[in-house]
Amino acid sequence: MRLLVTGGCGFIGSNFIRMALRDDPESFICNADKLTYAGNPANLARTVKEHPGRYVFAKADIADHDTMLRLLEEHSLDGVVNFAAESHVDRSIIDPAPFIRTNVLGAQTLLAAASKHGVSRYVHVSTDEVYGSLGEKGAFSETTPLAPNSPYSASKAAADLICRAWHKTYAFPVIVTRCSNNYGPCQFPEKLIPFMYLRAMRDESLPLYGDGGNVRDWIHVEDHCRGILLALLKGRPGAVYNFGGNAERDNLAVVREILRFCGKPESLVRFVADRPGHDRRYAMEYSLAAEELGFSPSRSFEEGLGQTLRWYADNPEWVRGVTSGAYLSFIQEWYGDKV
Ligand code: NAD
Ligand code: DAU
Repeated sequence: MRLLVTGGCGFIGSNFIRMALRDDPESFICNADKLTYAGNPANLARTVKEHPGRYVFAKADIADHDTMLRLLEEHSLDGVVNFAAESHVDRSIIDPAPFIRTNVLGAQTLLAAASKHGVSRYVHVSTDEVYGSLGEKGAFSETTPLAPNSPYSASKAAADLICRAWHKTYAFPVIVTRCSNNYGPCQFPEKLIPFMYLRAMRDESLPLYGDGGNVRDWIHVEDHCRGILLALLKGRPGAVYNFGGNAERDNLAVVREILRFCGKPESLVRFVADRPGHDRRYAMEYSLAAEELGFSPSRSFEEGLGQTLRWYADNPEWVRGVTSGAYLSFIQEWYGDKV
């Protein structure tokens, strides 16, 4: 397939491009990425060299209709996977505006350009956070009502509903995927796992929000990317598919596992003021994706976590490249004297 992948220099998008180019020798990918603080061309440096003639990059904003349309036409693209988003909940609390602009207006603009061009397949990548928060029992299914609690998740829920409208109103072949918390190589170290690992290795304090008892369902990024490829190839137009990792862990348990891996003491943990609107627990019921797409997560959390932390240990230059000026300003602005 000839694909427009947006946000392909980010964490999940770059893992997806690597997998798609490797697994389908016929594929061609145009990666349109605005290169925000989270977009890093280094994530794809080796992949680009391995697949000459099958990949092009465009520094572009999904909220720019004419550029999206031009890329679709210029490269005769017939499918779209939209990863492009502002993705960090804490940043959305500091300033929701870029989240609304990219995640809502950008998502709609990209749908409009893809409709005009007339693509045959379109996957919009969304999140379990659109469902809000669970109590101690149960799991989100695709029919769980949307109840987002952060500016980030509200912007993602808005885009999911716009996708729904595009299918119902214009018979546009959009598929929405909703996944739980990803971990793996190339994740920007503002997210829990790389953030805590890098701090632990420097013997810095590890700020856990609230009582550390919030639960996330962790999935390795390659399992998520496999699910997105399956949705792209086999998904029903108009459908929503949940993906999960079968790996519910509370945050304290995740941080303890990281400390064990690093050989560092638990005294590094600091319980700090909770994230406002902090969702208590996520868990995913993904039987629809299992039945219709043949999706199932393949990697155990402990195995995947060890591989991921080793990747960070083995890539100090990548880490240095993303933890300089602007990153440190964000850490200072958000955590202040909590760390
Ligand atoms: P990320 O922040 O690592 O990457 C986002 C990418 O989008 C970056 O390369 C950035 O430069 C690009 N981008 C941002 N605004 C853009 C714009 N206006 N135009 C073009 N490019 C733009 O995010 P991620 O963790 O890789 O998440 C990718 C997608 O998956 C997002 O839509 C996110 O909501 C969704 N998702 C993430 C997770 C997770 O655990 N990380 C789970 C489920 C769903
Ligand atoms: O569930 C999918 C979502 O997972 C994606 O849609 C988002 O893009 C992605 O960022 C992620 O959101 P979370 O808010 O769950 O991820 P984060 O890594 O920011 O936090 C994971 C948990 O760890 C959450 O309960 C908050 C907690 N946490 C996080 C940080 C950064 C802390 O206790 N301390 C911290 O310093």
